[in-house]
Amino acid sequence: MAFELPPLPFSRNALEPFMSERTLDFHHGKHHKAYIDTTNKLIRGTPYEKWSLEDIIRTTAKDTSKKQIFDAAAQAWNHTFFWQSMMPHGGGQPTGDVLQAINKCFGGFKKFREEFKSACVSQFGSGWGWLVLEEHEIKVLKTPNAMNPMAKGQVALLACDVWEHAYYLDYQNRRAEFVDAFLDHLVNWNHVTTHLKAHAEQIA
Ligand code: FE2
Repeated sequence: MAFELPPLPFSRNALEPFMSERTLDFHHGKHHKAYIDTTNKLIRGTPYEKWSLEDIIRTTAKDTSKKQIFDAAAQAWNHTFFWQSMMPHGGGQPTGDVLQAINKCFGGFKKFREEFKSACVSQFGSGWGWLVLEEHEIKVLKTPNAMNPMAKGQVALLACDVWEHAYYLDYQNRRAEFVDAFLDHLVNWNHVTTHLKAHAEQIA
């Protein structure tokens, strides 16, 4: 079964003015679709055809000869996770379990916000900013290109795409402004809560 481009969890203009319909037309309709199509092309006729995307990512991450497959599969997964990480009228400070975990691990939401923004802005070239769960802690990290927390045994909670194609049409080279808009207006904290709860035993 070939992988399919999942639909966006919101309409293409739902994140305006912080992320335009034009950006989502290209980012979801062209870039994300291309990662899915490339994954399908590369795994055709191989045992990976019957695997889940997650299993393909975890396995190919350990084998440099499979880098092309890893890059395409990880980017396919990362983008789906990125769309889920956003919602209309999102962003700002979370509440409940997520805020509690942030307070415990970062010493307050303000400190988390600074750390997340700094990771996203300082990632040299293309990559991703993440909030992840690892060894009873939530932490911020940045990864280059397609690299993905799953490949390192971490649980992804939140993703921010900092490839230029994520923001150039709306913000040109001003990545910091895009990250501010992501944090203040787009983050889907419900998504973070769901993933945190699914792994709640890890932060006990
Ligand atoms: Fe992207």
